[in-house]
Amino acid sequence: MNEPGLKEFLAESQARVEKALQHWLPATTTQPQKLHQAMRYVVLGGGKRVRPVLVYATGQALGVAPERLNGPACAVELIHAYSLVHDDLPAMDDDDLRRGQPTCHKQFDEATAILTGDALQTLAFRVLCHDASMETDSATRIKMLDNLAIASGSRGMAGGQAMDLDSVGEDLSLVQLENMHIHKTGALILASVRMGYLAYPNADQKQISALDHYAKRIGLAFQVKDDILDVEGDTATLGKTQGKDQANSKPTYPALLGLEGARSLSTQLHQEALDSLSIFDDGADPLRWLADYIVARNN
Ligand code: IPE
Ligand code: IPE
Ligand code: MG
Ligand code: MG
Ligand code: MG
Repeated sequence: MNEPGLKEFLAESQARVEKALQHWLPATTTQPQKLHQAMRYVVLGGGKRVRPVLVYATGQALGVAPERLNGPACAVELIHAYSLVHDDLPAMDDDDLRRGQPTCHKQFDEATAILTGDALQTLAFRVLCHDASMETDSATRIKMLDNLAIASGSRGMAGGQAMDLDSVGEDLSLVQLENMHIHKTGALILASVRMGYLAYPNADQKQISALDHYAKRIGLAFQVKDDILDVEGDTATLGKTQGKDQANSKPTYPALLGLEGARSLSTQLHQEALDSLSIFDDGADPLRWLADYIVARNN
């Protein structure tokens, strides 16, 4: 892994999206104050920002300037943050800790957490409609909106979350488990890469197929690693309570394949992701480093 290259790219991209998020989130002094406080509380100052970083990295592979991707980067992170707030609710995973802080419903209350998710979701779409730095025509904006809507909804993340909740205590087959992960986590990761290439109207079919394939492999690898970390990580490093999947009887890759089996699957997905980038030059190195990071991370 190119540690310095990855570190620098992560830091630059994280700072860039942080600024865009700061800009778009309503001030805590704006009414209704509690809702705006909660929105800023869950979005700012934490999280790895993997999805926005993927937007920028895909842009770099195709020569799209990062300044033009702040809107899409911000939008995918807002959807992700909303999904975490709802995922942590008592009706779903019932978690108390997120990004090293009390979860939204613990810090505020359940109704505020529900509304925070609602408001972050709609803000994401507003950002895509209005962000001025995107320098993009309305047809492209509509494609980006559609991309994010599909990835977030019942055929994407929300659908995957429904499958996750339905499968509590069930023995899923490998195919069913993969389908659940592809939806609940893979869809938004794929959407992030797609944002990057939608901003580049000259992307050819070969590049698009390669990037889609890359995104699908790392999207699945991301959740496989999340499941592994739930078993072998520690709460302080994770910033969320370790061992919750087993406590909640969630079907996971380690539960189905064992830790070794889950690890070897993540290695295989990592290699497949790298292989799919073979047509790209070193402009795609940040995408390569991110594939390394996703399977090597400890939080
Ligand atoms: C956690 O996502 C939820 C999953 C989809 C697995 P991240 O691991 O990206 O969480 P943050 O944004 O870094 O907190
Ligand atoms: C969450 O998966 C996927 C989402 C769409 C938020 P998990 O429930 O495994 O995520 P964590 O482990 O709570 O972050
Ligand atoms: Mg969950
Ligand atoms: Mg959860
Ligand atoms: Mg998890």
